[in-house]
Amino acid sequence: MTTEKMIIEIKKWLMEAAGYIRVSLTNELTVSQKSGRTDLVTNIDEETQSFFIKKINQYYPNDRILAEEKGYDTIDSLTGRVWIIDPIDGTMNFVMEQENFCIMIAVFEEGIGQLGFIYDVMKDELYWGGKNRGVFLNEQKLAQPNDVSLSKGLLGMNAYMYGKNIHSAGEIGHASMGIRVSGCAGVELIAMLKGNHIGYISNLSPWDYAAGLVLLDEFGFKYSNIEGKPLTFTKREYFLAATPTAYAEILENFI
Ligand code: IPD
Ligand code: CA
Ligand code: CA
Repeated sequence: MTTEKMIIEIKKWLMEAAGYIRVSLTNELTVSQKSGRTDLVTNIDEETQSFFIKKINQYYPNDRILAEEKGYDTIDSLTGRVWIIDPIDGTMNFVMEQENFCIMIAVFEEGIGQLGFIYDVMKDELYWGGKNRGVFLNEQKLAQPNDVSLSKGLLGMNAYMYGKNIHSAGEIGHASMGIRVSGCAGVELIAMLKGNHIGYISNLSPWDYAAGLVLLDEFGFKYSNIEGKPLTFTKREYFLAATPTAYAEILENFI
């Protein structure tokens, strides 16, 4: 069971990690390529993940962890309590812009999202919440965004999918008020929680969407893979999340 104490601890860990990340930007980063030229990891991604893993092992030794870096990127099932962590979401932005990146943490129990945290480090904005708890920006409770249709709202988009019209992403974008491309799943999910964007289409791994799903659930957003099937939490998948109306329009008219 997740508790108030757990929420307080996670917030404390996030603030500590973010403080370290901000200071790290004053030093030279060690940047390496993973699958290619545009898929980067830095010493700070790895150190931040190690920091959270150490805390979880110390405070919740029976829990399991799914996280992006260094051998934690697969898990056999979501049984028991599982922490899903993206230590720095938007590493390209972190390296090139020194802003527009997030730390994301989710806590799932028996496959059900219980807590979600998306922390925009440079803005010092923590979007967090949990099952039946609502969604907060820092300590302020947020109002549920309106159920806006596709033609009336902005859509967060993966640039490659849009450009190549993968799963009609180009056509879907044209049917909206316009697309926005931030290079950070966390920033896109925050835009939905604020009611700035009506949806997000991308190609994501479990740690890119886990925290977001907990918060999207609280606001009644719909999500799935791009074909309307449940997300698997096992691999990178084409991802769709949107207001109920826009979600239905996208699946009915474009997929
Ligand atoms: C990436 C970002 C990006 C999304 C990629 C993700 P990372 O996360 O969220 O916006 O398009 O699919 O992998 O690698 O910077 O943590
Ligand atoms: Ca990510
Ligand atoms: Ca990452």
